[in-house]
Amino acid sequence: MVTAYDAFHGRLLREAGIDIALVGDSLGMVVQGHDSTLPVTVSEMVYHTRMVSRGLRGAALLVSDMPFLSYQPSIEVAIKEAGRLVKEGGAQAVKLEGGKDYAPTVRALVSSMIPVIGHVGLLPQRVHAMGGFRVQGRNSSEGESILADARALAQAGVFALVVEGVPLELAKRITSEVAVPVIGIGAGPHTDGQVLVIHDLLGWTKEESLPRFVRPFSRGGKEAVRALSEFRREVENGGFPRESESYSEAGPENAPLPQ
Ligand code: KIV
Repeated sequence: MVTAYDAFHGRLLREAGIDIALVGDSLGMVVQGHDSTLPVTVSEMVYHTRMVSRGLRGAALLVSDMPFLSYQPSIEVAIKEAGRLVKEGGAQAVKLEGGKDYAPTVRALVSSMIPVIGHVGLLPQRVHAMGGFRVQGRNSSEGESILADARALAQAGVFALVVEGVPLELAKRITSEVAVPVIGIGAGPHTDGQVLVIHDLLGWTKEESLPRFVRPFSRGGKEAVRALSEFRREVENGGFPRESESYSEAGPENAPLPQ
C-alpha cells in the first residue's frame, strides 16, 4: 500500500503494480503544508480521491481516509461522510483511526456496504491527546489495549488493519493473533504488508524530517532541486531553449503536438 494524492501519483502506482492506493489524510501535511492532519475536510478528501482514481484507472484498490470529525460525532454522520467518499470520490473502501470504541461504527459502515480498513497504534488524528507523534504500545498495558482494539475491529468487520508506530514485537503479535491482513507503518518487518507515504518513499521529504522507519527508495527531492536549478541557470545564460528545441517558419507546423 502506498499513499496517493493526485492523478499523477495514481498513474505511478498503476505502473508500479502497487496493490492498494491510500488517499491518506496525511495530505494535510505533505500536500497542504499543515503540521497535522486535523484540518483536512471530507470535501478535500473527495477531491483528491477523484483525482487519484483518474490516474489509477482501477489498477489498485482505492481506499480513502475518513478525516478528523467525519466519523467521530455519530454513526449517521460516519455513514453519510463515508458515502460521499464512495459516491463522489470513487473510493472502494474507507479507513478510519481508532479502536474498540469505533467497532459499532465499523459494523454500521460494513452493513451499509462500505468496506472498512481499521487503523490502530499511533493515531495521527489524536496528536494532541497523545502529546505529539509518539510510538505507542511500549509498555504491556498499552500493548494489550492496542491488541484488544485490533481484535475488536476485526470482529466488527474491517477487512484489513493498518498498525502504525508500535514496537515490532507488538506488531508481530497483532499480525499472528488477528484474523485480517495487517499492514504496518513504523511497525517492523513482521506484518502482512507495508504502507509508506509516497513523498517519503520517493525521497521528496527532506531527509532531516524523516522518521527512522522510512527508507527513501529514491532521491526524488534532491534530483528535482538539481533539475530546477539547472533550468534556472540555463534560462539565465541563454542555454535554454536551443533553436533545435523551437519551431521555425519552415517547419511542419500542422503536425499535432504530443499530448
Ligand atoms: O494518512 C495516511 O497517509 C495514513 C498512512 C500513514 C497509513 O494513514
